[in-house]
Amino acid sequence: TRVEFLDYEAVVDYGWSLDDDELFRKAGQADLDPDAHGRLLVQPDESLLEAAERSGFAWPFSCRGGACANCAVYLAAGELSQPTDHIMPDDLAERGFRLSCNGYPLTDELSVVFNVKQRPELDDLIL
Ligand code: FES
Repeated sequence: TRVEFLDYEAVVDYGWSLDDDELFRKAGQADLDPDAHGRLLVQPDESLLEAAERSGFAWPFSCRGGACANCAVYLAAGELSQPTDHIMPDDLAERGFRLSCNGYPLTDELSVVFNVKQRPELDDLIL
């Protein structure tokens, strides 16, 4: 699975919005650091977080077990699995929030904003 990723900090810095359809196009034109915007590949047996780490990126995490939301990402395109045993509430999942530590791609392409743990709606979930 090919993943295009974007750091939520850049979204904040530039005043962009997560639900902006043009978000990744804007990111592509913003000349961001390779850590903040780029692409990586997820192998079939890897979670999104593992793939990011193997690719040399330091995405936030803590428990690695679906219990804290530090690893949360926002899914702008594609689908990432979410095991039943996790902390993400249904309403946030419906809005596109997922956990990268136990999320496995279900589509060939994904667009994700990582580092969304600083979003206010995730505050209560961060341990
Ligand atoms: Fe805690 Fe993913 S690192 S839920």
